[in-house]
Amino acid sequence: MTSTDGVFRVGLLGHGTVGSAFAELLPRHAERIERLTGLRPELCGVVTRRSGSFEEILERADLIVELMGGIDPTREWLLRAMRSGRHVVTANKQLLSRHGEELWDCARSNGVQLRFEGAVAGVVPVIRVLQEALAGATIDRVHGIVNGTTNFILTEMARTGMTFEEALRDAQRLGYAEADPAEDVDGRDAAAKMAILARLAFDTPVHLDQVRYEGIEHIQPDDLSYAHELGLELKLIGTAERIAGGLSVRVHPAFLYPKHPLASVHGPFNAVTVESEAITEITMSGPGAGGPQTASAVLGDMISAMIPPASTPPTSQVMEIVGDVVSAFYLHLEVADEPGVLATVAQVLAGHDVSVKSVVQKGLGAQARLVMVVHPVLESRFDAAMAELADLAVLRAPPRAIRVLEEEFG
Ligand SMILES: NC(=O)c1ccc[n+]([C@@H]2O[C@H](COP(=O)([O-])OP(=O)(O)OC[C@H]3O[C@@H](n4cnc5c(N)ncnc54)[C@H](OP(=O)(O)O)[C@@H]3O)[C@@H](O)[C@H]2O)c1
Repeated sequence: MTSTDGVFRVGLLGHGTVGSAFAELLPRHAERIERLTGLRPELCGVVTRRSGSFEEILERADLIVELMGGIDPTREWLLRAMRSGRHVVTANKQLLSRHGEELWDCARSNGVQLRFEGAVAGVVPVIRVLQEALAGATIDRVHGIVNGTTNFILTEMARTGMTFEEALRDAQRLGYAEADPAEDVDGRDAAAKMAILARLAFDTPVHLDQVRYEGIEHIQPDDLSYAHELGLELKLIGTAERIAGGLSVRVHPAFLYPKHPLASVHGPFNAVTVESEAITEITMSGPGAGGPQTASAVLGDMISAMIPPASTPPTSQVMEIVGDVVSAFYLHLEVADEPGVLATVAQVLAGHDVSVKSVVQKGLGAQARLVMVVHPVLESRFDAAMAELADLAVLRAPPRAIRVLEEEFG
């Protein structure tokens, strides 16, 4: 649709945390946007569960801003909007990580724009950077802290010695976590964002179901205090990387050495590091969520849609999604304090080609703790070593392991 009266009509689906912030932001910027684009943006209707009609809004709108979330009826409504020539801006990572190809395809074949900067890392402009600024670079790896709730919780656990449950309650009290935080803390939210980033960075279809993810619910305060002794920072890290001719996309807690660019990202902030031979490494960081912050990314997308066309091109290849990758690990063992225990553990590890980089040993009366970092090893081998360790009579509790990102930067 093209406006003939100088007004650019925006239909808003959803008036919750982000939708209401967007509705407030739009009139405040309308004059400036008119100067930039020659068109004055105006809301032409709002749909919530209780009010407004999608049919009526679709009839009037030049562009649909979708801030309802969910898959149904959202997917169908966005397809209909694009088929009838409307641009779409959305922040819905769950929808894009499951039905992105269908939606991007629909946008292309109808000559409209589908923009989604707010779907990943809030206001951090990582989508634009991957699609535009780095379009000429061959990307080797993307690492991200893409969930602010979990980063806040891990930061508080490390800073105060709180348990996971205590830090989660603080996050909820301060508005950094939802009443139902399941998707954040179990890694699913970050997995959806990494599926989108991987698709853009590697130009290959990636579905949420192909992303392996782990959350932070099992992290113990002493994992963080021992890590501190070893000079490590714990983060929930999303990774998408070229590996053995394929692509690995995963989310899990990982320890970082202090010089890693993501090690200094604290609290509810997000950050994404893009690595490529041509550019070495670029890190972008900033607020990862929040109504006004995400609404600002959505407004930026709306302005871009009003200027010249840009679209997400079709994928040009199908890369194999690799399951088994090489990782270093932190390993925490509660053992009997008796002679020969370390040797027994070392023998089991060596039997699976797992070699130890550093060890901290603590005696606790009849029990002792062995906390170690092992060199990078194929995860399937490490898992086999863990299974054998778990059966050792000298172990007083199941072994605990967390991945360590090995690279030293700077
Ligand atoms: N919150 C953030 O910081 C953030 C950050 C980045 C991305 N996002 C994404 O932005 C989107 C919106 O998030 P939010 O936090 O603003 O959600 P929210 O506060 O729960 O608001 C959702 C809004 O959508 C409406 N809605 C939901 N289902 C609907 C349906 N079937 N038909 C009509 N209206 C419906 C709700 O109506 P009622 O008011 O009637 O319930 C509500 O107004 C999600 O995709 C989310 O993943 C959010």
